[in-house]
Amino acid sequence: MKRIGVVTSGGDAPGMNAALRAIVRTAHPTGAKIIGFRRGYEGLITNNTVLLDSRSVGGIIHLGGTILHTVRCPEFYTEKGLKKAAENLEKNKIEGLIVIGGNGSFKGAYELSERCRTAIIGIPATIDNDVYGTDETIGFDTAVNTAVTLIDKIRDTAVSHERIFIVEVMGRKRGFLALEVGLTVGAENILVPEIKPNIEKVCEKIKENAEKGKKSNIIIAAEGVGDTRKIAKEIEEKTGGDVRLTVLGHVQRGGHPTARSRLLACLFGEKAVKMLFQGKTKKVVGINGNQLVEIELKDSFTKEKPLNLEFLELAEKLAI
Ligand code: F6P
Repeated sequence: MKRIGVVTSGGDAPGMNAALRAIVRTAHPTGAKIIGFRRGYEGLITNNTVLLDSRSVGGIIHLGGTILHTVRCPEFYTEKGLKKAAENLEKNKIEGLIVIGGNGSFKGAYELSERCRTAIIGIPATIDNDVYGTDETIGFDTAVNTAVTLIDKIRDTAVSHERIFIVEVMGRKRGFLALEVGLTVGAENILVPEIKPNIEKVCEKIKENAEKGKKSNIIIAAEGVGDTRKIAKEIEEKTGGDVRLTVLGHVQRGGHPTARSRLLACLFGEKAVKMLFQGKTKKVVGINGNQLVEIELKDSFTKEKPLNLEFLELAEKLAI
């Protein structure tokens, strides 16, 4: 394997840079050249490349975002876009391509793998943690910690003003981020898309809490549950409480990766390079417990990762 391509795709996730560093530096002793494609899949279509050496990935392990940049690229998912990307892989003599991204990127990677001779390995990096087959994705732990830090501050205001706060967190269509954030901030309620929100039940709990002397409430809502403004309004009407909505938005996606996100990035980066040298393709790196695992690329985006509903039950038990 003499020429390895690497691309960061989809939404940026803290730890993508640490993964790039791990790829470049574990491939370095083999003599393989690492070619970065800039601006996600768009760079594969436009042939926007940069040669990465050990020095060019220096001083980035602690940086959020991605030095290769990333864009959402609908053109890539067309026959024309995929053909162009496959041609550019041939032109650059790329024998193996590592895609760092989420399940949308892996769908694209699979389509591309069906149209080219290049071996393709995925590294899961998304704050949503919604990639099938891996307990965790790069960036998830950072996003959880960022949200927790911010919501702890919101709690101060909620308590002082005896208010009800709805805090909307990201997660696309899934509730992994909301669930882990909700449990670890001690939220009174957690709304996830996997379970139809029961606003009546939420309001009952708020009233019961008030009777017990608990005057403030934090409700964590995953963005996938729907219009949180409507939910906030409904709760205000039904409880007569002083309700505020905070949408955390993109502050959850940036910032320095936590040690955990960096560790995953180092492990996944090395493993992906090893897999290419072992002649593997159409696989995604993952972690189960403390074991690194290999996931079928197709499974990574077609199969649904289950949400741990025991976390939800525990959060309910603890928020009394
Ligand atoms: O996939 C990461 C993510 O941040 C999701 O949680 C969110 O739904 C989406 O990306 C937002 O995408 P964009 O930054 O393109 O608006």
